[in-house]
Order: sequence, then C-alpha cells, then structure tokens
Amino acid sequence: MKIKDWVYPEATEIDTARDLRIIREYLPRNKNIRILDAGGGTGRISIPLAKMGYRIVLLDISRTALNFAREEAKRAEVLDRIEFVEGDVCNLQFESNSFDFVISLRDVVSYSHEPKKAAKELIRVLKPDCYLIASVSNRVFWLTKVERWNYEFEKIKSMLTTKRMFTEVELRELFDELKIEKVVGSGYCSGNIPLRQLDENFFRLENFIGEDPELKYSCEYLVLIGRKHE
Ligand SMILES: C[S@@+](CC[C@H](N)C(=O)[O-])C[C@H]1O[C@@H](n2cnc3c(N)ncnc32)[C@H](O)[C@@H]1O
Repeated sequence: MKIKDWVYPEATEIDTARDLRIIREYLPRNKNIRILDAGGGTGRISIPLAKMGYRIVLLDISRTALNFAREEAKRAEVLDRIEFVEGDVCNLQFESNSFDFVISLRDVVSYSHEPKKAAKELIRVLKPDCYLIASVSNRVFWLTKVERWNYEFEKIKSMLTTKRMFTEVELRELFDELKIEKVVGSGYCSGNIPLRQLDENFFRLENFIGEDPELKYSCEYLVLIGRKHE
C-alpha cells in the first residue's frame, strides 16, 4: 500500500527503537491503563506497545493512515488491543483527565493547524500526575541542512518562522502547562546517515547522542517528556 510521505515517514528501526526506549522509561508497569497515541499514523508505536500487552487508543486525522494501521495490527495479531479513532488532535472527543499516558510523536502537533491548541488538548485528556511524551521537528537541525533547501535564501529564511518546527525553548513554551522533566533528541542516525548505511552499529550512538544535553541538537526530532500537575 502506498500512502503519502507525511502520513508514513521513513522511520527506521533505529528511530522506533529509540522512541520506544524513551517511552519505556516513563510507561507505567500496570498494563490495565488507558494510553492515547495521538496522530499515531500507521501504528509505528501503538503496535509495539500493544505487543507488550497494553491497550491503546490510536487517533489520527487520516483515514488512510488508520486503515493501514488496522491492517498492520491484524498482521501483528494485536487488533483487539487497539481502538482506532478518526479525529483531530486540536479538538479531542475524549473526556478531560481520561488517559494514564499520552504520546504524540513526530510532528503531529506541528502539522496540526494550531499547535498550541493541540498541546492544550493533549494535556487536557491526560490524568493529573501522568506523563505526556511529544516530539517535533528540530528547527536547529533543519537550519543546518542548507543543501536540502538548494541553498535558497528564502527557503532557509522561512525555517526561522515556520510553525512546523521548533527550538527547545519554543517546544517548552508549547507545553508550559506541564511539569517538563526533560527534552531529548531522536533521529540522529536517520537524519544524518544514508539509509543503506544504517546498521545495528548505530543503535548505541543514537541513544548516546539523543541523551546528551548539547549533542541532542544534531537530532532531527526533539522529544519532550512532561507530567501533568496534580
Ligand atoms: C509524521 S506522522 C507520525 C505518525 C506517528 N505518530 C509516528 O510517530 O510514527 C504525522 C501524523 O500526524 C497525523 N496528523 C496530522 N495532523 C493531525 C491532526 N490535526 N489530528 C490528528 N492527527 C494528525 C497525520 O495524519 C500523520 O499520521
């Protein structure tokens, strides 16, 4: 099945392993919790979580992505653990304080029409004292990729103001209602190294760079980990 790039980015095994490692650190051990994967796309994260025994609500605005995710979940034999919901992250149809864990990875917030509203909605549906993990494109990373913008001045300048990517400070402002525990990096390898060269040697490097307080800015994504006030 072929679907648009923005629905199905080229997430590598290394990206997914990195994101799952970040998530696992904060994921409650109790499997009887309610998890929201907002803008969960094709189930890149929902399916591995369901395989671990969790129940997930996978919400996405794209029916194509949801259909793809449903097929993948069937293949992975976890269809009964994932609820598929078509919806907009800026206007979630869930009650306030109803999820024990909320994730929204890889540009869902930035691609929604109102990032601040999306952030507020994600926080609204999260239960007090529970964790939210969200990742967005790293503006600093993209500003260094001048070759990808054909060295064109206007394109590079637009990077400074686009709402589709964030610096760490901007990301923290977006989620300032949370107690932010940290911001780490993800996607160093896939952002910098040709896919054909990405072998398992890079797994440790990805985590090392992503966790470093300064080296993390060389990663394609910034990942915010925060907890809702009690
Ligand atoms: C780059 S993909 C990331 C998918 C998934 N979170 C992951 O990490 O693999 C971005 C996803 O955001 C979804 N999306 C964009 N705007 C949205 C909105 N307003 N509400 C819900 N989902 C949205 C897209 O359909 C797409 O599946």
